[in-house]
Amino acid sequence: MSNKIHIKPYTGALGAEILGIDLSKKLSKNHFNLITNTLNEYHVVFFRKQDINPSQLVKFGQNFGTLEEHPLIPTLKDFPEIIELKSADDGPGPYARNSRIWHSDMTYTKIPPMGAILKAVSIPESGGNTMFLNACLAYNHLSDKMKTFLSKLKAVHSIVMTSTKEEILSEQGLSRFAKMQKALPPVEHPVIRTHPETGKKCIYVNEAFTSHIKGLNQNESDSILNFLYKHLHNPDFQCRFIWEENSIAFWDNRVTQHFAVGDYASRRTMHRLTIEGTKPH
Ligand SMILES: [Fe+2]
Repeated sequence: MSNKIHIKPYTGALGAEILGIDLSKKLSKNHFNLITNTLNEYHVVFFRKQDINPSQLVKFGQNFGTLEEHPLIPTLKDFPEIIELKSADDGPGPYARNSRIWHSDMTYTKIPPMGAILKAVSIPESGGNTMFLNACLAYNHLSDKMKTFLSKLKAVHSIVMTSTKEEILSEQGLSRFAKMQKALPPVEHPVIRTHPETGKKCIYVNEAFTSHIKGLNQNESDSILNFLYKHLHNPDFQCRFIWEENSIAFWDNRVTQHFAVGDYASRRTMHRLTIEGTKPH
């Protein structure tokens, strides 16, 4: 691999590919700084042709913070830090359901992750791209009056939002629901979050996990959330990553949301690391 470092922005909204770094090697201080600076500027960074094993992936991730183990999702054998996201043989399948809604990861926890690193292990012949959006850019495009109104609000996030009504009402539904609620009780986060490193503000609600805005009645809350989702999902704030085998995406989970497009018809296997974050303010 050539040593010449090059940053290739994907869209004017977010995303940049970093060329010229070999992630199988120990990360130098210079390369660490380059990656964190690029992440703060573009919010999601991409690498290509990184044929690294799970142990090398974990070592790479550890440069950026403590790696979390997910409280509910099963992890890769011998690597508790790696979640294996495996589709069905013939397409996304039921486990990919929550990835096919715009979200930032695990906002249903008190301290959601700072970021995630996702490596493509096997990808479909076509499709299965990931979309990202810049929630800071979306915030900047709100009117000053709306920014002020939202700045005082908190929203409730819950893992229970990922259950369908059919699942909740099924035979095992209520006990499963109660178990999830006990393991991960609902949490509150500000509707507008300030990024701890850049100081930039961003919209911090998502369609997958946000239940309601505190202190508003349900009609008001639904209307404001639907308005915010429509605003966030504007293609002007997005980029799209087309995976190849051994591609890696590293996103800042505090300022981006992502959406795994379910337009494929074969197996898609990804390995994900989750990096510990700080309480949103
Ligand atoms: Fe996700």
